[in-house]
Amino acid sequence: MSDKLLNIFHQSHSGSWAFIVILFVVSAIFYRQKITPMILRLFYLIMLVSGIGMLIGYGFPVKYVVKGIIAIVMIGLMEMILGRMKRGQGKESSTKILFVVWAVLIVIVVLLGYGIF
Ligand code: HEM
Repeated sequence: MSDKLLNIFHQSHSGSWAFIVILFVVSAIFYRQKITPMILRLFYLIMLVSGIGMLIGYGFPVKYVVKGIIAIVMIGLMEMILGRMKRGQGKESSTKILFVVWAVLIVIVVLLGYGIF
C-alpha cells in the first residue's frame, strides 16, 4: 500500500475519533432527534474503513487487530444504548451498565490506538 494512502487513513482515523465520542454523548442525551445518530453512523464508517485500511497497510499486527475488534464491539454497544434510549429504557440499570462498559472500552481503544499499552 502506498505511503500516501496509509497517511490518508491515519489522518482521517486520528481526526475522527473525538467526533464519535461527542456525537454519541449528544445522541444519548438528545435521543429524540435523528440527526446526530445519522452523522455518528457516518463516522463509524470512516473509522472502520480507515482502521481496516491501516490494518492491511501494517500487515495485521496482533495488537491492532485486538484494538479493531474491541472498537467494533464498542460501536455495537453505542447502537444498543441508543436503541434502548429511544425505547424509553434509558433509566434501566442494564442500560447504565452498558454505558459504563462503553466508557471503559472507549478509553481502552484510544489508549491502544496511541500505543500506550
Ligand atoms: C470508533 C472506533 C475507534 C476509535 C475511537 C479508534 C481510535 C483510535 C485512535 C485514537 C488511534 C490513534 C491515532 C493516532 O495514532 O493518531 C487509533 C489508531 C489505530 N486504529 Fe483505531 N479506533 C477505532 C476503530 C478502529 C477499527 C474498527 C480498526 C480496525 C479494524 C482500527 C484500527 C486502528 C489501527 C490499525 C491504528 C494504528 C494507527 C497508527 O498508530 O498508525 N481502529 N484508533
